[in-house]
Amino acid sequence: FACRKNTMWKYKEFMPVDESRIVSLEEGGTPFIGCHKLGSDLGIDLYVKVEGSNPTGSFKDRGMSVGITKAMELGVDTVGCASTGNTSASLAAYAARAGVKCVVLLPSGKVALGKLAQAMFHGAQVLSVEGNFDEALEAVTALALEGELYLLNSINPFRLEGQKSIGFEIVDDLGWESPDRIILPVGNAGNISAIWKGINEFYQADFIKERPMMTGIQAEGACPIVNAVRDNRMEIEAVKNPETVATAIRIGAPVSSLKALRAIYESDGCADTVSDEEILSAQKMLARTEGIGVEPASAASIAGLIKLVEDGVIDKGEQVVCIVTGHVLKDPDTAINACSEPLNVKADINDLRKVIRSR
Ligand code: F0G
Repeated sequence: FACRKNTMWKYKEFMPVDESRIVSLEEGGTPFIGCHKLGSDLGIDLYVKVEGSNPTGSFKDRGMSVGITKAMELGVDTVGCASTGNTSASLAAYAARAGVKCVVLLPSGKVALGKLAQAMFHGAQVLSVEGNFDEALEAVTALALEGELYLLNSINPFRLEGQKSIGFEIVDDLGWESPDRIILPVGNAGNISAIWKGINEFYQADFIKERPMMTGIQAEGACPIVNAVRDNRMEIEAVKNPETVATAIRIGAPVSSLKALRAIYESDGCADTVSDEEILSAQKMLARTEGIGVEPASAASIAGLIKLVEDGVIDKGEQVVCIVTGHVLKDPDTAINACSEPLNVKADINDLRKVIRSR
């Protein structure tokens, strides 16, 4: 693979598509950054996989490239999804590139500004639905079953086929080794399932000898998977009114919960919750100690890491990869609210010097 262009299509033999028809914006091949300051504070070997560097700013592009390619193979003319924001931003862009009609259902008032701007700007028909993500997903699924549109939420298995490339890349980034642990935020539970699939495909191909402990993090107010893991259950109980500042993972009834639970149990991994306060504090800390800007949901993986180290679940010296799933600019309001206002200063060098030295 080494001589190929650094996108997720580097691993095209593992993707179930007609190679001549791939719809791509060169997704994947994202930065894999050693966080030695934060890692040494925590006593671990820490890497961060920066999925915000994908074409539309989140990991969804990987799944959407395969999903839209498949939609083209099938000859559909309308694609659609429900979304907490990123899926809709990604689908809108890939649908534009493929030249098909795109409909997205968004929970009214609960989608971060950057994501909404993307879905609208790429020309999707944007429907603001009264209700939460789970209700919007139920509605769009019913439309898909009627044949109104081709559904590109992660219940569509081709989405997971693309997202499994995160697992491939982590192994490749580490010089064809598995890390001890992968930590990521869990919402609709597609990504953790996809990455575990990718890891297993490389394991079965004998590219790696070990597999990582899959570690899922949810917000306290939206944690059906964590509740199931706590009781050692294989099915979830839906959370009725999910709530969290991390709107991307504000989900009460994840569609891929069974696959996600299997990934956690089979890998000897775990799941835990973090509070909104812990999420926002980890988001700011990552931005200010390592220079990596992520949206709140993504910071759940860092907040979860800190909690699991403090609780002694993560051993000293472990090699851990945290996946940060979306870019900080996805949710500019949250970023701005976390900071004090810029100072108004005249363009006078004496005034400026005074202000600079006072900090
Ligand atoms: N992080 C971000 C930034 C997300 O946008 C999502 C999901 C997740 C994590 C969770 O991933 O659903 O595979 O467990 N966003 C979806 C959306 C639901 O509509 O954009 P998951």
